[in-house]
Formats: sequence, structure tokens, C-alpha cells
Amino acid sequence: MLVSRVKNHAIRQHRVLLSLVVLGFLIWRSSSRVRVTDMPAVRVEGLNANSSRFTLNGEPIRILGGSMHYFRVPRAYWSDRMVKMKACGLNTVTTYVPWNLHEPERGAFKFHGQLELEAFINEAARVGLWVILRPGPYICAEWDLGGLPSWLLRDKNMKLRTTYPGFTAAVNSYLDKLIPRVVPLQYMKGGPIIAFQVENEYGSYGNDSQYMSFIKEALVSRGIEELLVTSDNRQGLHRGGLKGVLKTINLQKIHPEVLRQLEAAQPDRPMMVMEYWSGWFDVWGGLHHVFEADEMVPVIAELLSQGMSINLYMFHGGTNFGFMGGALGNQPYRPMITSYDYDAPLSEAGDYTPKYHRLRTLFRGYQSDNLPMMPKSQQKKPYKAVTVFQHLSLWEALVYLEKPHHSLRPVNMENLPVNNGNGQAYGYTLYETAITSGGTLNSKNNVRDKALVFVDKVFIGVLDYKTLELAVPDGKGERILSLLVENCGRVNFGKDLNNQRKGLVGDIVLNNTPLRNFNIFSLDMKPDFIERLQSTKQWKSVPKMLTYPAFFQGKLWVSGYPADTFIRLSGWSKGVVFINGQNLGRYWSIGPQQTLYLPGPWLKRGVNQVPPTYLFVRSQACVCGIYTQIGTLNSISCVSKLY
Ligand code: GLA
Repeated sequence: MLVSRVKNHAIRQHRVLLSLVVLGFLIWRSSSRVRVTDMPAVRVEGLNANSSRFTLNGEPIRILGGSMHYFRVPRAYWSDRMVKMKACGLNTVTTYVPWNLHEPERGAFKFHGQLELEAFINEAARVGLWVILRPGPYICAEWDLGGLPSWLLRDKNMKLRTTYPGFTAAVNSYLDKLIPRVVPLQYMKGGPIIAFQVENEYGSYGNDSQYMSFIKEALVSRGIEELLVTSDNRQGLHRGGLKGVLKTINLQKIHPEVLRQLEAAQPDRPMMVMEYWSGWFDVWGGLHHVFEADEMVPVIAELLSQGMSINLYMFHGGTNFGFMGGALGNQPYRPMITSYDYDAPLSEAGDYTPKYHRLRTLFRGYQSDNLPMMPKSQQKKPYKAVTVFQHLSLWEALVYLEKPHHSLRPVNMENLPVNNGNGQAYGYTLYETAITSGGTLNSKNNVRDKALVFVDKVFIGVLDYKTLELAVPDGKGERILSLLVENCGRVNFGKDLNNQRKGLVGDIVLNNTPLRNFNIFSLDMKPDFIERLQSTKQWKSVPKMLTYPAFFQGKLWVSGYPADTFIRLSGWSKGVVFINGQNLGRYWSIGPQQTLYLPGPWLKRGVNQVPPTYLFVRSQACVCGIYTQIGTLNSISCVSKLY
């Protein structure tokens, strides 16, 4: 019986593999056909914007583009999503480049695996899509610090997005590594990149008149030869732009005066919407944004009928995996959720939506050839509930972390002497000091962004932007006051970029006296941190009386071929989920997101393999007041829907 089941299982897997091979072949066939017809063998001229219509190689072209960020989509799915774009009638994929992922430590660069930009660009060519590259270095994008590395903020005088020498030197050394990778992928060198964007919406931000020319020159001097563009929104258009560079606009609804303004600024040049916002992003505690297809499609139809080129931002949003979601800084501070679904035509998990189908019908009218066939959607699977079987309290975990840093005064995350001198970028930081009395604890608004406060490991409350004061109960002798400070995401847009240091950014006072002599633990939750924690012998079975915050481990059993799923954490409050070394992102019960996307390729196949594990930091929900109700531990399930 067992044998035959195993056999059936093997046959099933075989079938799945077989059908994948066949599908892969079909995709290859259609893309190679596309490549032959769409991509000219002889290239005499790149994208040209010297008349009212774009031309490419001398032939008129209308850009029908869609944004998809390689860093928000598992690499195993890049191709699938691009083929779906092509099948919708798009001819171009547009992506930002996130400096903070590519240079996580000053001078140490990453361009492999999920971050292999050249592979993404080559994949676009294979599928038959042109590429518009938006290398920033600032990208906004609801991404931590708008894509800038947090180590820049170690300099207390830092002026981001200006010609401040500390910033330009860092930009130069980053572009020295990035640009040579994309130079050979430009159109005139046989690659698919037809245009580059210079910075991002600088018209809404800066007043350094030299800065945009500096970025332009930084690209050109390193060998960028294709068309350069800038992009600005309605508010920034009149201040944005750069001499000799095509201006484009970002919008969601048609404001005739803005289109007139764009046209007047550059008569007889092609009109392009670089970001047509197909939906919008969500923040924790807010509502999930929906922008109806009925509203969207007529606007796009109108823009096209006016002869404009367009890029849908986003065509496929993907996910803010890890701690990479940004935040809105304009009062109040509002961090981004983990999902970057964006209500885009392809959902977070790459599924077709009504918007996709409506756009396909619309775009078909702009093609002379038939559209390629739409690939099948990826299967989604609900798995059996995850059994959480091990527990390690934060206090027990501390001895396994690197030694704390001693400091008279609080030190912010970025300035901690960790991470090869780059400071701590993301995660949590624990500040501990001895106190000898109770009284009033006041944060002086120096907590970034949320602190759980404990006296001798007993939770006494939360300090954040709203709550600046807490009562510390009286007690005998010396006691330890602990503040576990969570970095919930750095602001990615607006004037406040230079003030995005996290942790404790100044003094905390007890009865008006600043606290001193801290032990500071860095909990960056990077893969080696998680591995170290996982290998400790101190994990215990989950106790009846749970203490928080804590790490939990559980098992997810995957039988059959691993498929995409969504993790629902009913009864859990706030934390972060890891699986097989991947950080799936932040979870927070206040929503609007209730589940975390878990892509199939990150799961291990087969019931007999070492099961994947989860780790959680679980802490009391701050927004709901004191968390008293503890969810049932076996309430982590895998479902097939995001919202
Ligand atoms: C602007 C930015 C994008 C993104 C959108 C909102 O247009 O250029 O990076 O932040 O807003 O989603």
C-alpha cells in the first residue's frame, strides 16, 4: 500500500515535471518567435525622442510598458511574469535598481542570485521585451529609505540626494560597480535597454541645482548612451527635469492642464507617462487600496488615443520581502505593509486579475500581430496547519547573540559598531540599563519606531510616536530596564530622508534624568543571526505560560510538488516570519494584510526531506493596547488567498 502510494506520488511528480518542460518549451518557442520579429538584427539608432513620436531604429514605436521589480519577485518567477506581460500586449519592462540591496555594506557588492540584474535584463530580451532602467540612486518605490543604504546615515551631516561630497562619493563608487554591468546591455550594443531614467521625481524634493546634472554625468561618463529621461509627478513637474533630457509624467487620473504643461515644456517631443499608477500601496493599519478596472481602463485608453506612451506602475508589484518596506513620513509616520500587490494587473502572486484581461483587450488593438498565448497561472495550495513546537524567549536568546555594545548614551542603529563598521541596517535593537527607582519614563520622542518596555523582563508598556510617557512601577534595589526597539521601515518619500536613523536616537529620561550606561544588543535577523539562533540547544517545547517576545519554530510539511501558499497567523500579533532562510517579511495583525505570501520555489519538495522551519519574534500588539489574549499556537495555516 505504502509502496504504491509512493509510486503514485512519484508518477504525479513526474507528470508535473513533464508538463513544466512542455510549458517551458512553448514559452521558448513563443519568445524566440517574438525575438526574431521584434528585435532588429541591424541596429543603427536607439530610442529617439526628437519628434512627437518615439522611433527605435528609425521605426515609430509606442512604449507599452509595465513595472516589475526583480527584487520583489522570486527569481524563479521572473520569466513567468515577463511572459505574462508580453501576452498582455506590453513591449517593455521597467525596473528600479535598489542600491541598499546591492551594496549592503560599504564597498561590498551583491549582484548574484535574486540580485543578478544582468540575468533579469537578459531574460527580458529572451521574452521579447525592451527594458527601461531606473537606476536611481534614489528610487522612492515604497522601499526602505527610497533604496538608499542606511550606512549613509552614519555621517551625522549627511545630505541625501544632494551634491554633498559624502553622498556623491558614495554614489560614484556604487555606480562604478553598477553601470559597467548594464553598459553592454544597451540597445546599440545589442541588448534590450532602450532608456535610462535619471534619479526619481527630483522635482518634488530637491533644491540642489547641481545634483541632477551630477547624476546625469555620472551615467554618461560611465558609458550610458541610450535615451535619458526624468520622471515627475504633477506637483514636481514644473521644478523637475534636466536640459537635454526627456521629461515624463507620473499620474493616475488625467489632469488636462498637466498634460498641456508637459507638452508646452517640450513641444514636438513624445509624451510619456512613466508611472501610470495602476493601483496604490498600503500602510499598516490602513485600508487595502483598490482602484477599479472600470476607472483605470478608460484613462489608459484616453492616454493611448492621444498618442502617448505609457508604463504601468506597477504591472506586477510583488512583495516587500524581509525588512525592505519603506514608510510615509508625513505625520503620522506610517510603515508599508509587506505585500506590494498594488492592486496591479498581475497580483502579488502573479495571478491574472480583471485588470489584466481588460488591458489585454485594449492593448490588442494596438498590435499588428496576434498576442502570445497567456501562460497558465501557478497553482496555489493550502497546506496543513503549521505545528509550532519550539520556543526560545528573547531573554534566553541573548546569551547566544554577539556581545552587547556598552555605551554611556544611547546609540542609534546605524551608528552601532556592528556589521563590519556599517552599523545595523534593519530589525530590532535592545537597549538595557539599570534603574534604581520607579517614576515617569519619557522618550522625548527619541524612539524609532516602536519600543516594548520591560522592567526585569516584565512588560510595562509601549513607547512610540503617540505614546511618549510610561509609568515605571516602584521596586527594590537595582532593576534592569529594557527597551526592545523595532525599526518598522525608513521613510521613502518626502523631505525627511536625512532623519531616518532608527533605534534610540537621543536621550530617554526617567524622572527628567537622562538614562545612562546602556548595554545594546543588535538583533538584525540576518541569515547568520537566524542560523546561530537555530543551532542553540536552548529551544524548549512550547510552555503553557508563554513569555514574550520570543522566537518560535514550527514545521510545515509539504507533500507533493511545492506550490505557492499564503501564511495566515490567526491570533498572532506582530512579528516576522522566516522559512528556509528566507525572510518573508513583517506580519502585523492590524492588517490590512492578513497573510504572508510564501512562493513555492522557496519550499522544499517531498515529505521526507528536512522540513522547513519558521521563526517568529512575537511581541505584544501595541495598537490594540495591552495584549492579553494569546492566540492558539497551532493557528498558523496556509491558505490560498492574500486578503
Ligand atoms: C512615485 C514614485 C514611485 C512610487 C509611487 C507610488 O511616483 O516615483 O517610486 O513611490 O510614487 O507608488
